[in-house]
Amino acid sequence: MALHPARSAGRQHRPRHPLHGLANPALGEDIIVPTERLATQPLPADTAYQLVHDELLLDGNAQLNLATFVTTWMEPEAGRLMAGCAEKNMIDKDEYPQTAELERRCVSMLAHLWHAPVPERAVGCSTTGSSEACMLAGMALKRRWVRRREAAGQPADRPNLVMGANVQVCWEKFCNYWEVEARTVPMEGERFHLGAEEAVALCDERTIGVVTVLGSTFDGSYEPVAEVAAALDKLQATTGIDVPVHVDGASGAMVAPFLDPDLLWDFRLERVASINTSGHKYGLVYPGVGWVLWRDQEALPAELIFNVNYLGGNMPTFALNFSRPGAQVVGQYYMFLRLGSHGFQAVHQASRDVATWLASEVERAGPFKLITKGDELPVFAFTTLTGTNAFNVFDVSRRMRERGWLVPAYTFPPNRSDLSVLRVVVRNGFSRDLAELFVHDLARLVPELQRQSGPLETGDGAGFHH
Ligand SMILES: Cc1ncc(COP(=O)(O)O)c(C=O)c1O
Repeated sequence: MALHPARSAGRQHRPRHPLHGLANPALGEDIIVPTERLATQPLPADTAYQLVHDELLLDGNAQLNLATFVTTWMEPEAGRLMAGCAEKNMIDKDEYPQTAELERRCVSMLAHLWHAPVPERAVGCSTTGSSEACMLAGMALKRRWVRRREAAGQPADRPNLVMGANVQVCWEKFCNYWEVEARTVPMEGERFHLGAEEAVALCDERTIGVVTVLGSTFDGSYEPVAEVAAALDKLQATTGIDVPVHVDGASGAMVAPFLDPDLLWDFRLERVASINTSGHKYGLVYPGVGWVLWRDQEALPAELIFNVNYLGGNMPTFALNFSRPGAQVVGQYYMFLRLGSHGFQAVHQASRDVATWLASEVERAGPFKLITKGDELPVFAFTTLTGTNAFNVFDVSRRMRERGWLVPAYTFPPNRSDLSVLRVVVRNGFSRDLAELFVHDLARLVPELQRQSGPLETGDGAGFHH
């Protein structure tokens, strides 16, 4: 959420059109659209609707938004179900016991999907997204570490968390808000995410955990979770230092189980203590739902759990928010019911097919070099070939926007901040047909860009935050 400053004066806009005030034509003559202070008088509903609706036309087109991982299309049936639940507050377990039951079923399904050793002993909950889920997982890691240190009579100050420099900003937030030192492994050469050796080299007795990402927000690549876990096993065998792993599967935890079932990254690895995902990414639900699960009750300190009243009994909860929409959880259960594992496999395979095809076409459409190919997450990043002096990735991003395509360009983190890329996220609904139009527009643009005398955009401040 952007932190918005207030402004002192409102926009003095007067739509003098009688149709803006159907319910009260006189009012329509004199509407000042309030932008900073509440107006004193109410507006008729249809007028307010029209004004807000029209302003929102300035937003980008969600379907052409290749920047976001978040679901931009659901079936009308899902939309109807969710609209019907708009008034349900997830925390009111007592009033909405069946919504609570659907949440429990989703947790159970994810425990099975992620191979919890005894699924009935896994614990988990829904959240507003992966960011909240990561905060909860990080808090559990920190609290477990503190309790272990105290029990051993050792100081429990200056905890640290090890991760790649490519982690999503939520992990920087976690470390900042919960006062944990962020130990980041920089990118090096062609290694664009965490390496096992490099992760272990940063671990010590104050490390509360290692975060591995499936897959990276920067380029869609999967981090080598099994290699990191094996390297940490070795660390424990040689030094006694026992460091748990959290898998940030914001996108990949809902892709890999269906498309890469043999890849070892989940609770099959004993060292994996917890996993999060965004239901609103490849879980295929509209924004507002995430999930976090712990492999068993021991991985989640009981003291972090609060009890809310539930059908006259107690319902354990672990969350940062209290009130939260119930509709997204209902939407998630609908998607699980609707697709089953074969359905998810088919939907995500279609996205991966489009992503890998589009990546190879982009490489042919101009002086571009692929950083990733879309064969892990259906996401790929590309840059300009060395020797391309007439334009840069920021020019491409700006010019593609003129056609409506939203393709972010950004600079990689240390030690590859010399590298700037464009990234394409393929989601359900981005068809092969749209992909062909995308390549066509890109190929048409390249000769124009090549006629530039040099890059027009600097990409200043194009660090990456989503
Ligand atoms: C790897 C990773 N972790 C966490 C997040 C944050 O997720 P959310 O937007 O669901 O809060 C993202 C978002 O893109 C992500 O890619």
